[in-house]
Amino acid sequence: MTETVTVLGLESSCDDTAAAVVRRVDGVPEVLSSVVWGQDALHADFGGVVPEIAARAHAERLDICVERALQQAGVGLNNMDAIAVTAGPGLIGGVLSGVMCAKGLAVGSGKPLIGVNHLAGHALTPRMTDQVAYPYLMLLVSGGHCQFLAVYSEDRFQRLGGTIDDAPGEAFDKTAKLLGLGYPGGPLVEKEALTGDAKRFKFPRPLLNRPGQDMSFSGLKTALRRARDVLVDEKNGLTVQDRADLCASFQLAVADTLAEKTRRACLVFQGLADTRKPVLAVAGGVAANSVIRGGLQRVADGCGFEFLAPPLQYCTDNAAMIAWAGLERFTKGHRDDLTLAARPRWPLDRDAAPMLGSGKKGAKA
Ligand code: KG4
Ligand code: ZN
Repeated sequence: MTETVTVLGLESSCDDTAAAVVRRVDGVPEVLSSVVWGQDALHADFGGVVPEIAARAHAERLDICVERALQQAGVGLNNMDAIAVTAGPGLIGGVLSGVMCAKGLAVGSGKPLIGVNHLAGHALTPRMTDQVAYPYLMLLVSGGHCQFLAVYSEDRFQRLGGTIDDAPGEAFDKTAKLLGLGYPGGPLVEKEALTGDAKRFKFPRPLLNRPGQDMSFSGLKTALRRARDVLVDEKNGLTVQDRADLCASFQLAVADTLAEKTRRACLVFQGLADTRKPVLAVAGGVAANSVIRGGLQRVADGCGFEFLAPPLQYCTDNAAMIAWAGLERFTKGHRDDLTLAARPRWPLDRDAAPMLGSGKKGAKA
């Protein structure tokens, strides 16, 4: 007999309002719709996400996104088996908007409610896009997160290291701001770097001299600011070439750091999980960067891992990954009720020590 499970997912933990419908038929996943309403334009003037503006926009847009997602999927709420929602970690106003909306939908339709950890959504994406089997190694690298996870099941994750301060995407965004490039910074810095000399500035590769997989990116941003200030003092401004060289040198420092720490994480993972062909998967907006991606691919090849980067629309924040994670939880018997709380912090690995500086701003965890 055919087993069909269909789940509606909602996501609103940062600056994307999203809704999606995902279906699994006899174990095969299918994204029926994935609607993402980004807020870049609302935050561009500020060079970063303003939590109050984000929360307000989520509250206004969530029901519209849900309506569109159902319409594009050609289904109604009554066809859903469950309603999944990001319940954290993230900017609390946005998470609350999503959780309240999902509770209303669940009560109105009589369907089960499933709270999903946003990081689990990212971490389980390769199962939705490529049907990857457990266990696998995941590098989650975005504007709010940077961590290595051994993924054993929909509910069991082991953190193998991560940033102790800024996430790489945040460093890209701050670099773009320091150089007057705009927001979000990652793609703009990558574009500038194309014509730059990555060897001109010797930026630090933080924590490479220490054992382990932890990373730090806040010093890099300070080094970049100093290099910029020296140039500005010398000649009263930056040339186009200076800016390109700063971007290229910064980008290579991030790529080198991520590559070396990923190499170490691969070795640790191999010691933990006995798989014939281990998989290294990435998710998060920074995975879009081709220099960083290239570095990770080389590391995976060198360590005998298969490298997997889901399509960009499922690497960055979206609700299909939330619907999928909800679907996996639902089919394993997890259920939430109206006491489901919105959580600003929610580490995936309950046994890992909290990171220094975690939760300082926004969605860090
Ligand atoms: O995963 P995402 O859409 O949202 C979260 O942060 O959860 O990631 C957005 C981040 C931003 O910081 C953005 O600057 C960065 O990903 N990003 C990039 C690139 N494209 C997006 N960073 C480096 N290179 C890129 N091409
Ligand atoms: Zn995210």
